[in-house]
Amino acid sequence: MATFKVSRIDTKPYDGQKPGTSGLRKKVKVFAQPHYLQNFVQATFNALTADRIKGKTLVVSGDGRYYSKDAIQIIIKMSAANGVKRVWVGQSGLLSTPAVSAVIRERVGKDGSKASGAFILTASHNPGGPTEDFGIKYNMENGGPAPEGVTDKIYENSTTIKEYLIAEDLPDVDISKIGSTSFSGPDGEFEVEIFDSTDTYVKLMKSIFDFEAIKKLLACPKFTFCYDALHGVAGVYAKRIFIEELGASESSLLNCTPKEDFGGGHPDPNLTYAKELVQRMGLSKSNSESEPPEFGAAADGDADRNMILGKRFFVTPSDSVAIIAANAVEAIPYFSGGLKGVARSMPTSAALDVVAKALNLKFFEVPTGWKFFGNLMDAGQCSVCGEESFGTGSDHVREKDGIWAVLAWLSILAQKNKYKLDGEKLVTVEDIVRQHWATYGRHYYTRYDYENVDAGGAKELMAHLVNLQSDLPQVNKIVKKVNSAVSNVINADEFEYTDPVDGSISKHQGIRYLFEDGSRLVFRLSGTGSEGATIRVYIEQYENDSSKTGRDSQEALKPLVEVALELSKMQEFTGRSEPTVIT
Ligand code: G1P
Ligand code: ZN
Repeated sequence: MATFKVSRIDTKPYDGQKPGTSGLRKKVKVFAQPHYLQNFVQATFNALTADRIKGKTLVVSGDGRYYSKDAIQIIIKMSAANGVKRVWVGQSGLLSTPAVSAVIRERVGKDGSKASGAFILTASHNPGGPTEDFGIKYNMENGGPAPEGVTDKIYENSTTIKEYLIAEDLPDVDISKIGSTSFSGPDGEFEVEIFDSTDTYVKLMKSIFDFEAIKKLLACPKFTFCYDALHGVAGVYAKRIFIEELGASESSLLNCTPKEDFGGGHPDPNLTYAKELVQRMGLSKSNSESEPPEFGAAADGDADRNMILGKRFFVTPSDSVAIIAANAVEAIPYFSGGLKGVARSMPTSAALDVVAKALNLKFFEVPTGWKFFGNLMDAGQCSVCGEESFGTGSDHVREKDGIWAVLAWLSILAQKNKYKLDGEKLVTVEDIVRQHWATYGRHYYTRYDYENVDAGGAKELMAHLVNLQSDLPQVNKIVKKVNSAVSNVINADEFEYTDPVDGSISKHQGIRYLFEDGSRLVFRLSGTGSEGATIRVYIEQYENDSSKTGRDSQEALKPLVEVALELSKMQEFTGRSEPTVIT
């Protein structure tokens, strides 16, 4: 057994190591600076109590983006030096974010050990490669992202750090092969185990969904399927689950080989970036000749996001979570005992609220970011939750889960078509959504993103909107000037959240303008960007007259969009006449 020593390396703080909505994300060239990653990792170890580190098991893996392999070796060596007993690494360093959460919660090591936390190496949906983004975040023993108390401490530590611990002489571990390697250090034995990236996760999915029912649906010649992993880590799970377990054909997978640079693409599953899938589903301007599949879905780099499409039909994420919640009990065995409650992030449309009300379910509105759902789930108050930003999930893990969302939709389709597989026509994704709107009304919804705008201008725009909130007559004057048919703003505020479980308060979580007819405008600055600022504008309008739920959503929302741009003086503050992304 090779032995190692612990070295203490002198270092100096770097500015800006403050974790954002979901961990620390920076350009690779920033992370690759001497001691940069090491500082952050040591700041994290120092922020965690010793009982979470000493003699414990940690998971280290991610979406496989550029710089991950170097980072994994560094974190292994620093874990050894900081008294960690075991590091678990998914084969080739690959684990989706939800799979990491599942591994922390479910996986049991040979000696009965469980993991106490994880370093997840991902910048989620941000592009990868030598000139693009890398990211790192820490998840706790419940499988969820570190709460703000911990991330604040990590940041604080990063501003005063003087040294870090590393086992410099520990040889690099071959992470491509499954197996264990042990080393001997000052605290005793240290082990690195490389394990299959999919086993734990697949077992969990099989305990949630009726795989036999989904298999029958996929075997039906009338049901065609397509999944695009955008060269992220989801490909590993898609091959195992959709092909090996559920019998879909190889040709139903697009971009399912993980690449360090996501093939040069932007691994974000939306109508702008999932180009190939959008084309195949008959939703792009230049449609292919062939008949689109019945069902299509995509994932982001680390496979926690999802986009759901029907044939020539887009399902908004806000509708998707509402539809899953409305059908969960009938279609998904895991929920057969009923839902404990449902939750959405504030900017997500109120489609879920209507379902919660109709089904008499507990309902929560939380700030943006998955970490806020975790407390509710740990307290047994929430079963299904989602965000407008293509995040959907449940209390089976403490992260949003892209593959889970696809399996949830396949389950709903399987249930609705149980007795129709041999018949003339299947119930389609579009049928399900239109039926949902007929029952619950429709929330027209769109989000405008202004990416990489000048940070100063973005701040001024937000300050202007907060300021304007104190003068509703002036607000309504602007609204009426833009379009007299738009209803009045009756309330405007900055969203503030008091966590019902631990009482913690989160302020400044987005600026809201609330209209008399239930429409909403929300403005937020992104917390996940790595450069400049991104302004997000969320636009929503409720329609419960079933004769009016079939309109084109951009068309229906046009007046409200104009109001949003005028109220915020978007062009004046940012110089932008168009958003970079519309979803
Ligand atoms: C974005 C999304 C948010 C999501 C987060 C992590 O954060 O808007 O819903 O939880 O990514 O995937 P933002 O950049 O808006 O802070
Ligand atoms: Zn992600």
